[in-house]
Amino acid sequence: MSQTLRDARAYEEERELFIKPEDRPAFHLGARVGWMNDPNGFSFYKGQYHMFYQYYPYDSHWGPMHWGHAVSRDLLHWEYLPVVMAPDMPYDHAGCFSGSAIELPDGRHLLMYTGVSREVTESGELRDVQTQNLAIGDGVNYKKYAHNPVITAADLPEGGSREHFRDPKMWREPDGSYRAIAANYAGEGGGQMLVFRSSDGFAWEFDSVLSKNDGRIGRMWECPDLFTLDGYDVLLASSQDMLPKGFEYHNGNGTFYFVGHVDPETGAFVEESDHAADYGIDFYAPQTILTPDGRRVMIGWMQNWDTCNLHTKSTPWFGQMSLPRELHVRDGVLYQTPIRELEAMRRNKVEYDRVTVENDEITLPGVSGRLVDMEIELEAGDFTRFAVWFAKNDQYHTGFSFRPHESVLKVDRKFSGSRRAIIHQRRAKVRHENGRIKLRLILDRFSAEMFVNDGEKVMTATLYTDLDAEGIAFFADGKATFRVTKYDLEL
Ligand code: FRU
Repeated sequence: MSQTLRDARAYEEERELFIKPEDRPAFHLGARVGWMNDPNGFSFYKGQYHMFYQYYPYDSHWGPMHWGHAVSRDLLHWEYLPVVMAPDMPYDHAGCFSGSAIELPDGRHLLMYTGVSREVTESGELRDVQTQNLAIGDGVNYKKYAHNPVITAADLPEGGSREHFRDPKMWREPDGSYRAIAANYAGEGGGQMLVFRSSDGFAWEFDSVLSKNDGRIGRMWECPDLFTLDGYDVLLASSQDMLPKGFEYHNGNGTFYFVGHVDPETGAFVEESDHAADYGIDFYAPQTILTPDGRRVMIGWMQNWDTCNLHTKSTPWFGQMSLPRELHVRDGVLYQTPIRELEAMRRNKVEYDRVTVENDEITLPGVSGRLVDMEIELEAGDFTRFAVWFAKNDQYHTGFSFRPHESVLKVDRKFSGSRRAIIHQRRAKVRHENGRIKLRLILDRFSAEMFVNDGEKVMTATLYTDLDAEGIAFFADGKATFRVTKYDLEL
């Protein structure tokens, strides 16, 4: 083990003692100490789920990337394990960027990640070089492969950038061979997704171009994932520098997916539909896994790049993962529902069959809290706006408001206590029948995730409101009638 990794292990062990469990999210995975971004190496190995993550232990802001590590049996109760990789080799000294994990037939855990190093260009400037590398381990300790890097710029199709070539996601084909999909910048055209192949997981070669940006859906693409679900192929990825397309995408970094199929002749992805993976503020770089019982589950980084670096340096941890979400494809849409294991955490059911609120704001006995699973079924009705507010006290609240005449659901955290001029609102088009709509809201201490119409759309946002703001209120312009079922969530 290198001294750099040993230092990181000692540092996180010492520093985590300063963080109280109640200052962390209850059931979302957060950084052990310091900074967290993308989920990495999401896999099921030796009877447990493993989640690695982009990690800089020494500061609550992004820095030279390590891989943090945690394990769980239900994807909700997490236990930290020691950091597994540090930027300590010539080919990754500027960072161990995102990647993935699989189990080899001999029982070893194989990680593939992007190593970032630096070169001096002809004009004398420093430029990143990104290559794909391996590490092999047993679920706790990992050793970088002696023959790294295993995929380099020499394997790229013509025009591919050596500076932006990252985030390999591996899988095993039914015939036992291996594939990996990685993101690459193809110049002015934008991003492209490339597939590589290997017979043993160690020696890799270029296979095909799966998809190209062609000037739409942002510029550089990142963090691809490719899987088959409900008879379709799905390409899930994230993009930088997006422009909004109606209500579909928003400015900045965002996630997207294509539903369609991979043409077996050309290896190209034939798209039938494309959508955002989340319509809220904080969701990026998701990865999926196939659970042992055959569910496709996705976890994303519950942040966004444009607003994630404004907290003070003294913050002891920063960055959380989203709730694990079970996926299905229906009508060209990736439906997402909170992982069913969450239901085992439900306590204290409170139910109101028919509540009416008319030009008023109301609270309901038993309906409050910051660790909450709440379903709201609105009836068709004569209202122009319905809102649910939470993390609420006299000073603060965050909420979702629904305007049936515009078919818009808006998340608004403007009054959550933030003192920064960042994005606090986002809107999504939602389906409803004369106001009839189904909402499910999951609150953890520092986040809200709203699942609309059984997961047809999801809106995610982080918030850092004082934890004693735990009121929940309902509001209507006009007359709205709804059913509400609310549970506390307990670990
Ligand atoms: C996405 C990303 C990845 C990269 C990593 C670096 O959020 O930019 O493309 O591997 O973060 O931390």
